[in-house]
Amino acid sequence: MRTVPVQLGKRSYAIKIGGGLLAHLGGECARLKLGARCAIITDTNVGRRFAKAAFNSLATAGFSPSLIVVPAGETAKSLKMVQMGYDLLAAHRLERKSFIVALGGGVVGDLAGFVAATYLRGIAFVQVPTTLLAQVDSSVGGKVGVNLKAGKNLVGAFYQPRLVLCDLDTLAALPEREFRAGLAEVIKYGIIYDARLFARLERGLPRLLKREPKMLGAVIARCCEIKAAVVGEDETESGLRAILNFGHTIGHAIENISGYGKYLHGEAIAIGQVATAKLSSGLTGLSEEEAGRIRDLFKRAGLPTGIKLGAPQRRKLFAAMRLDKKVSGGEIKFVLARKIGRVIWGQRVPENLISHALDEIVNTAPRVLARDRNRKS
Ligand SMILES: NC(=O)c1ccc[n+]([C@@H]2O[C@H](COP(=O)([O-])OP(=O)(O)OC[C@H]3O[C@@H](n4cnc5c(N)ncnc54)[C@H](O)[C@@H]3O)[C@@H](O)[C@H]2O)c1
Ligand SMILES: [Zn+2]
Repeated sequence: MRTVPVQLGKRSYAIKIGGGLLAHLGGECARLKLGARCAIITDTNVGRRFAKAAFNSLATAGFSPSLIVVPAGETAKSLKMVQMGYDLLAAHRLERKSFIVALGGGVVGDLAGFVAATYLRGIAFVQVPTTLLAQVDSSVGGKVGVNLKAGKNLVGAFYQPRLVLCDLDTLAALPEREFRAGLAEVIKYGIIYDARLFARLERGLPRLLKREPKMLGAVIARCCEIKAAVVGEDETESGLRAILNFGHTIGHAIENISGYGKYLHGEAIAIGQVATAKLSSGLTGLSEEEAGRIRDLFKRAGLPTGIKLGAPQRRKLFAAMRLDKKVSGGEIKFVLARKIGRVIWGQRVPENLISHALDEIVNTAPRVLARDRNRKS
């Protein structure tokens, strides 16, 4: 087992990474001296597979767990589910010393974390992330929240867990597409912070795609270390934490214009990172060779590196980018790479340059289509 400390003064906690950890959930919670009553919040997919093991481990360690199961998928990140959560916690008489276990992917972690942050003005919570994305990203750093009709993550809090337990065995059940989407965040850490990690991913990708436990454990631990270091410097995103958004301005816009659900988040940010690498090679000195290595790694990881867009959709993409949270004073700001492993944030980029970089990822091909049509007719 590997342990990564997250240093946040009184709110510090450990991320534990290894195989078979779910069986130790109860023992780990006992070490935190939490109250007897707790609630496991999970979703239908994860609950079916792992709720029993979590429940038994907690019960064996002397806790009185109850189970709250929400529907799988992004729609569960809603105020309706928050309300349902509060009602069930109250019905099970959870009190100030009680705690919540978030067992699932980023959706469950964000929802359960928000419930924990607000029920009785905050009770303890433990993250047991079961997707690759949740293990390397969403379970670390304390951003919790839910969506509104008006947009994603519009209601939330910064609220740190007391412990993060990453059981690598849970990843064996994860659908291939979800696993690869998680790799987009893994590759991101290499680009923004650690050239050696990036090179290791280039070499070890086949082992990673096979989900070899040793490789997985080492890579997940490194990603958590990086996120912990960034969050430790800037817990509430006033500066450095912005680097975690590399590729996300364009990625979020892609998710937005294609209707949430068409692309998984990881897929959209893979495309976003390829475009941002291109932008960086024009603006911040990233070499063409490194931009090419970035594109190739996403491709080898089975992630999309381009998108088909007509002219109207391209305009929509720009409009969506302007609406992104990271826009201030009307200018779109980017995290750009100087080289693999080193980025700078808060870079204002003129729209004509963004448009040029989009040529790298947008496969408009209107002329080819027109020619084809002419040929057919
Ligand atoms: N808080 C943060 O800092 C942060 C960071 C990044 C993303 N997020 C949020 O995370 C969410 C996405 O998280 P996600 O990608 O984990 O999605 P998710 O939680 O929806 O999980 C993806 C799918 O996999 C299933 N699943 C989960 N674990 C499984 C397992 N071990 N085996 C089989 N199936 C399993 C889930 O039921 C779901 O159907 C988004 O809502 C996003 O906003 C939050
Ligand atoms: Zn992301």
